Amino acid sequence: MSHPAKFSAPILDLAFSVLRSEWEGWMGRPHLFDPFAGTGQALHEACTTGDDTFAYSGCEIEASFIEAPGIFHGDATDPAVYPPARGSTPWGWCILTSPPYGNGISDHAVANDASKRFTYRKAIATIEGVDRELADNNLGRHGFRGTQRGGKSVKRAAYWDLARRSVVHWKTAEMVILNVSDFISGGEVEPHVNDWRDVLYHYGWGNQVVHPVGTQRIGFGENHEARVAHEVVVVARRD
Ligand SMILES: C[S@@+](CC[C@H](N)C(=O)[O-])C[C@H]1O[C@@H](n2cnc3c(N)ncnc32)[C@H](O)[C@@H]1O
Repeated sequence: MSHPAKFSAPILDLAFSVLRSEWEGWMGRPHLFDPFAGTGQALHEACTTGDDTFAYSGCEIEASFIEAPGIFHGDATDPAVYPPARGSTPWGWCILTSPPYGNGISDHAVANDASKRFTYRKAIATIEGVDRELADNNLGRHGFRGTQRGGKSVKRAAYWDLARRSVVHWKTAEMVILNVSDFISGGEVEPHVNDWRDVLYHYGWGNQVVHPVGTQRIGFGENHEARVAHEVVVVARRD
C-alpha cells in the first residue's frame, strides 16, 4: 500500500484552471506551496508538464511518503516552512493543498498485515516495513470519526488545533486552494468542508468559492463508509 490519499486528476485540473485564469496574461506565475504534500508526485507532474509551468514546493511530516523533488520534510504548523511574503517575486505564492481529513484514513490503530484498514499509519507501516506511531503533529493520526460534534473529543480538539496552527501561517499567500470533503460518521454526514471553511474565515480568507468535483472515492475495506458524493475545492481569497 502506498500513500492512501493522493491528489486526483479532476481536483488538480480544477485547481490549475482557476490558477491559470486568475494569472491569465501575466508574465509569471505564483509559486505553489503544499504544506500537506504527501508524495508530492501529482503536484510535481501538474506543475512541470506542458508549456505553462509553475514553480512549487511543499512539506510533508512523514519523510517516507516523499517522492517528488521540491518536497521537504517539515511540519505545516512551523512558520519557517512557508515561502517568503510577496516581494521576493512579483507574483507571490499560493497554497494548494489537501490536508488529511478527520475520517477513517486518519484512524491511528496499530497497523497489522491482516487489517484491511486504509490508513496513513498502515501506509507508513507498508513503506517502512514496521508499524510505528505517526508524528505527533500529523493531522492524519487524529481522525475523529464516530466522535460527537460539540462534544469533548480529544481527537477532534487535537485535529482542529493542528489545522488552526497551520492555517495561521498562510496569511501572506495570494490565494488558498483547499481540497477537502465531507464524510460519513456514525451514519451522519460530518460537515468537514464547512468546518474547514470556518477555519479559513477565521484567518481572513472570507471570500470563498466552493467547487464540487466528482472523484472516485475509496469503496472497499473498513473505510468504505467514508464515501460521500463528491469532494470539493475551496478557492479562498482575502476579504
Ligand atoms: C491528503 S494527504 C496529501 C497527499 C498529497 N496531495 C499527494 O498527492 O500525495 C495529507 C498529508 O499531510 C501530511 N501531514 C499531516 N499533518 C502534517 C503536518 N503537520 N505537516 C506536514 N504534513 C502533514 C500527512 O502525512 C499526509 O501525507
